[in-house]
Amino acid sequence: MSQTNPIGLFDSGVGGTSIWKEIHALLPHENTIYLADSKHAPYGNKTAEEIIELSIKNTEYLLNKNCKIIVVACNTATTNAIDILRKKYDIPIIGIEPAIKPAALKTKTKSIGILATKGTLSSALFHNTAAEFAQDINIVEIIGEGLVPLIEQGKIHTPELTELLFKYTAPMIEASIDHLVLGCSHYPYLIPKLLTILPDNITIIDSGAAVARQTKSVLETNGILNTTEEKPTLEFLTNSDTKTLKMLLVAYAQSISCKKVDF
Ligand code: DGL
Repeated sequence: MSQTNPIGLFDSGVGGTSIWKEIHALLPHENTIYLADSKHAPYGNKTAEEIIELSIKNTEYLLNKNCKIIVVACNTATTNAIDILRKKYDIPIIGIEPAIKPAALKTKTKSIGILATKGTLSSALFHNTAAEFAQDINIVEIIGEGLVPLIEQGKIHTPELTELLFKYTAPMIEASIDHLVLGCSHYPYLIPKLLTILPDNITIIDSGAAVARQTKSVLETNGILNTTEEKPTLEFLTNSDTKTLKMLLVAYAQSISCKKVDF
């Protein structure tokens, strides 16, 4: 595998662009291909079998494009399918899962909140991590029902979405959490609104930057970090309308290509 081969990323839709941004900031010369499976979003309410099937489909699409590493830019797909993907494919596969461990280590109130999809919160991987690192911590688990479809439609700054955030954070504030873990790659786009809703003593934790650091480290260990200084090819592919993807990537409009394809 050559170092100039692209990094492949996939998500159930546009949310994983929050992770792509961290990776691109840390590794600006890497070629990347981002696959947004928006046609099948949200993954969060699907069965584990369905999530595994979609994750395999996305991974194979990216492998056919000669990706040197796969970043599963979706907590729901990671927590349900990453073990299977790692067994099935030879190349390195990076995932993202809710950052319970750092929140459990830092909390002073011994109470943390986690906002994620049903698929993530019901996964064995999530339960095992919680059992290992947060036994003596109160975890307020809330399913962010309805958030992903609104973000997919680009309805981020809408009263409808704000209302849902008030509803989902109220029981967390009530339970005196001091850390809110964002367990879905779509949710970093909600941080500006969450900051206006949450009391100042609550810290929001999102794993995007950690995933970027992990990606860099795995590329280095495998000797496939792109050390050239050329302008990268940054490709975004969606099986739905390109509108929201383009909106979220507007700051990169001059350097990326974004198109609709069938997969
Ligand atoms: N972006 C996703 C995640 O990180 C999936 C959300 C969904 O499709 O339900 O969990």
